[in-house]
Amino acid sequence: MRKRRSTKVRKSTAQTIKKLRTRVSELEETFLAIQRGRVDAVVVNGTDGDQVFTLQGAEHPYRVLVETMNEGAATLDQDGTILYGNASFAGILGVPVADIIGTHLQKHFSIQEHERLKSLIDNSLRSESRGEISLVSPDGQQRLVRLSLSPVHQLGIRTICVVATDLTEISGANEALKASEDMLRNLSGRLLRLQDDERRRISRDLHDVTGQKLALLSMDLSGILKKKEISKDEEVNRLLLESIGLSNDVNKEIRTLSYLLHPPLLDELGLPSAVEWFTQGFQNRTGIHVKVDIPSNFVRLTPDAEVALFRIVQESLANVHRYSGSDTAFVRAHSDHAKVCLEIGDFGKGMGKGSTKTAGTPVVPLGVGIQGMRERVRQLSGTLEITSRPGKGTLVTAVLPVSTQRTESSESYENHKIQEASFVPIAEAPESNGWRKRVLIADDHDVLRRGIRTMLESDPDLEVCGEAVDGQDALEKTLAQAPDLVILDINMPVMNGLDVLRQIVRHRPQTKVLAFSVHDSEQIVEEILAAGAHSYLSKATAGQHLVHEVHSLLNGRSQAGHA
Ligand SMILES: Nc1ncnc2c1ncn2[C@@H]1O[C@H](COP(=O)(O)OP(=O)(O)O)[C@@H](O)[C@H]1O
Ligand SMILES: [Mg+2]
Repeated sequence: MRKRRSTKVRKSTAQTIKKLRTRVSELEETFLAIQRGRVDAVVVNGTDGDQVFTLQGAEHPYRVLVETMNEGAATLDQDGTILYGNASFAGILGVPVADIIGTHLQKHFSIQEHERLKSLIDNSLRSESRGEISLVSPDGQQRLVRLSLSPVHQLGIRTICVVATDLTEISGANEALKASEDMLRNLSGRLLRLQDDERRRISRDLHDVTGQKLALLSMDLSGILKKKEISKDEEVNRLLLESIGLSNDVNKEIRTLSYLLHPPLLDELGLPSAVEWFTQGFQNRTGIHVKVDIPSNFVRLTPDAEVALFRIVQESLANVHRYSGSDTAFVRAHSDHAKVCLEIGDFGKGMGKGSTKTAGTPVVPLGVGIQGMRERVRQLSGTLEITSRPGKGTLVTAVLPVSTQRTESSESYENHKIQEASFVPIAEAPESNGWRKRVLIADDHDVLRRGIRTMLESDPDLEVCGEAVDGQDALEKTLAQAPDLVILDINMPVMNGLDVLRQIVRHRPQTKVLAFSVHDSEQIVEEILAAGAHSYLSKATAGQHLVHEVHSLLNGRSQAGHA
């Protein structure tokens, strides 16, 4: 009986010990947690209910965080007086920490910023407010600071919590980035201009040097072919004809190459003719029908602006061909007193789904072509807009300010010069030498003038009364020497051959004009005849037809010659 009781007591003691052990190990864990700073406060069940004991040092990690962080942190009272500020806050203001507590925040900013600062503080009492404010620190450094202010309510007291970020470096870096972007843009603008100049130069060299020499070669060969003793030999005849054909072919190829590099019509006739010429070729090459609507009296712009607009037409039509799938396109241009507007559009598939934002606004995909167009337009203070709708087509619109208009029109230049030229009275002009007709040769190429002179002088009915080396010279000599006929090169320096032609027609209608050019596109022939030329000859074929054409003009026939 006793034995059973003692067994019972031992059992319950063992249970109590087990319970106590568990509690001790729980307490040990709690103690360790408190010691390691993992507990901020302890809740104790007392007779008066739960009591919270905040442990000393629990705020320590937060304090360390605030004290050492790079951002400035401060608390203000409702008026804006600084109650507390960390080292970074003081550093941003450029004042020792000890000197900021108890001062008004405004004191550290210039008077101009006080108003904004006050409204930031007032707003922050209701909700969070933010602003960027500049300040000059006591060492004279200009700084830009972003302040974020938010209201804090604690134990019935309202304070403001401020976080200050120094943006000086970021804004400096932004400015540097912008400056380098500007530099890049200027550079790309310069490169575009250099590329245009280079193309223009190569195009001119091919045209005016190589082309002229080939024209002369063809003339010389034709001259040889006409010699009586040579025409007897059939084999020589055949070889000569073949050589003439070859030199004409090469000349044509060189001209095509030169046109593509830089359309000569652009400088002489302006955008309408150049675009008309280009779209004709484009249509032939691609089968895409292009409707051109540019008034023939379209305003003349600076060469830079005309080249830019022409390149935009070229690039946009290339895109129509490459991407749109449209079999028709249009080019339209118009101008008013303030701006010129150029549009190139198609009715194709548009810029595609991949290039449309979810919001529905089309995003123009990046490509060299469009970027180049944008850059050209930007250089001229204009705008380029591209709108595209899937399945409906794409429209490129370039707008340039009218300040890109030519300041001194060739018309006014021409009138100014004509007055000087007209001082030579017609009466003093040398009279025709009896039966021989007098011909003036106007061409800026020495070799070509010599070639023409040789051909004309072999004819006893013709006399070369003079040579002119540029446009102005041609006009002056025509007025002074009153020749029966002028052989007038259309591409000449100083004064454009077409302007010379118009002036001759106006002031010396008795003189016949045989226009002479390396350009033989329909476009330019039309322009030349419309300007009043009595006939037109292409330099490439001049060798065979020149003397014959001169005779028929002098004998009264007046119509388009051999292109
Ligand atoms: N008329 C158009 N129709 C459809 N897509 C076009 C048209 N024009 C341009 N795009 C699209 O825009 C892109 C960028 O054009 P672009 O800048 O000229 O670059 P690139 O021709 O060198 O590819 C093209 O790759 C094409 O996807
Ligand atoms: Mg392209």
